[in-house]
Amino acid sequence: MENNIKLRSVRGTHDLYGKEIEKYNEIKNTVTKNAEARSFNEIKTPIIEFTELFLKPLGIQSDVVLKEMYTFEDRNNESLTLRPEYTTPMIRAAITNNLLSELPLKLYGLGSMFRRERPQKGRYREFNQINFETFGSDKFMVDLELIILANDILKSLLPNHKIKLHLNMLGTKQNLAEYKRNLSIYFNQNKHKLSSESLEKIDSNPIRILDSKHEDDIKIVNLAPSIREYISPNSKKYFDEIKQGLNNFNIDFYEDHKLVRGLDYYCSTVFEFKTDSLGSQDTLLGGGRYDGLIKSLGGPDIPGIGWAAGIERISMLMENQKYKKNIVHLAIIDEKYNNYVQEIIKFFRDNKISFYWNYKYNLKKSLIKANNSDASYVVIIGENEFKGNFYTMKKLDTGEQHQLKIEEIKKFLDDKS
Ligand code: HAM
Repeated sequence: MENNIKLRSVRGTHDLYGKEIEKYNEIKNTVTKNAEARSFNEIKTPIIEFTELFLKPLGIQSDVVLKEMYTFEDRNNESLTLRPEYTTPMIRAAITNNLLSELPLKLYGLGSMFRRERPQKGRYREFNQINFETFGSDKFMVDLELIILANDILKSLLPNHKIKLHLNMLGTKQNLAEYKRNLSIYFNQNKHKLSSESLEKIDSNPIRILDSKHEDDIKIVNLAPSIREYISPNSKKYFDEIKQGLNNFNIDFYEDHKLVRGLDYYCSTVFEFKTDSLGSQDTLLGGGRYDGLIKSLGGPDIPGIGWAAGIERISMLMENQKYKKNIVHLAIIDEKYNNYVQEIIKFFRDNKISFYWNYKYNLKKSLIKANNSDASYVVIIGENEFKGNFYTMKKLDTGEQHQLKIEEIKKFLDDKS
C-alpha cells in the first residue's frame, strides 16, 4: 500500500537527539546532584490530570487557562488536560498519596509541560521543566534556600552567562487583593490610553498589565501605584530577611516591583532569573510562594514555595559549549592486528572505559573521524605498537602522543580526566 502520510512533527514540539539530548542529560545530572545534596525527593506525576486541577489555581482569567491548555474530553466525558505546569500536579500527588504527614515535604521533578502558545525562539508547545517545591514551612530560610539552589544550578550549567535575579514581595493574599482593587481603579481612570489587550484585563487581572510590553501601556504602568505601598510590615520584614540572606551569599538581585508572575496562585515572595541572550523569552526560571493553594486544593492549610526552569531555554544558552567526552576512538591500521585489538577492547570493557570503533582499517579516516567527534582520545594500533607491545594514545585537543603499556592506560586516562 502506498504511504500517503505527510510526515512532520506537531508545531511547537521538537525531538531531542544528538547534542540536545546530551545537554538535556547534563542538566538532569546537575539537577539530581543538587537535589540529592539538599534532600529533595524526586517525584514523577502523570502527564494528564483532571482539568479542574488547573482552572482556579492558575486563574480562570490567566493566559494559560484562557488560551493555552490542551484540554479534551475523555471517552467517558471527563475533561482532561495535558499538564501546563508542575506545581499543582505535585500538590495533587502529595495530597492523594498522603505525603503531607511529615513536613516540610521537599519534592523535585523534571518533565514535559504543554501550553498552546505561539511558538518562537525559546517558546514551545511541549517543553521540559525542572521543578522544585517545598510544602509546609513559612520560614524565610526556605525562600532563601530555594533561590540559592536555583542560582547554584544555573551557575554550574551556564558559568559564562550573565543571569540576573529579579525579586519582588507581593505581601499577603489580603495585601495583594487590595492592591489589585486599587490597580483596577487606576487603570480604569486611564482606560483610553491602554492597549486593547490590557483593556480586557483591567477588572479581571489588572496585575498582568504591569508586565505588558506594549509601548502605550508602559507609560501608564510607570505611573501606576506600586505594590510596595500595600505590603504589611511583616511581609516587609520577611522580604528584608531574604534580601539580607542573599547579600550574605553575594548573590546579586534586582528589586523589581512590577514582577507579578503569570499564574494566579502567587503571593508573598516572587522571583525570576532572566538573561539578555534569549530575546523576548528571557526568563530562564520563575517561582514564588503560594500560601493558601494547598488548602484550596483540598489539602491541609500549609504554605508552599517553589520554582520551575525551562530546560530548552537553559539548553539554548549551553549551545556553544563543547562537550568533550572521555571516549577513546580506535584507529587500527590493518586486520592482521585483530587479536591485539581484541586485547585492548577487553581491557576497555573490563575497566568501563568508553570506546568507539567503526570496524575499519584506515588510519587517516579513523583519525579524521575521531577529530570530528566529541571523543577526547584516539588509540592507534599498527606495526610499531604490535611489535613493541604498547599502544599509542593520542590526546585529540593537544595532539600529544604517549606510548603506553596496556596496564598504564587506565592510570593515564584517570590522571587526564
Ligand atoms: P512559569 O513561569 O509559567 O512558572 O514557567 C517556568 C519556566 O518554564 C519559565 O521561566 C520558562 O523558562 C519555562 N517555560 C514556560 N513556558 C514555556 C514555553 N512555552 N516554552 C519553553 N519554556 C517555557 C511555572 O510554571 C510555575 N509552576 C513555577 C513554580 C513552581 N512556581 C512555584 N513553583
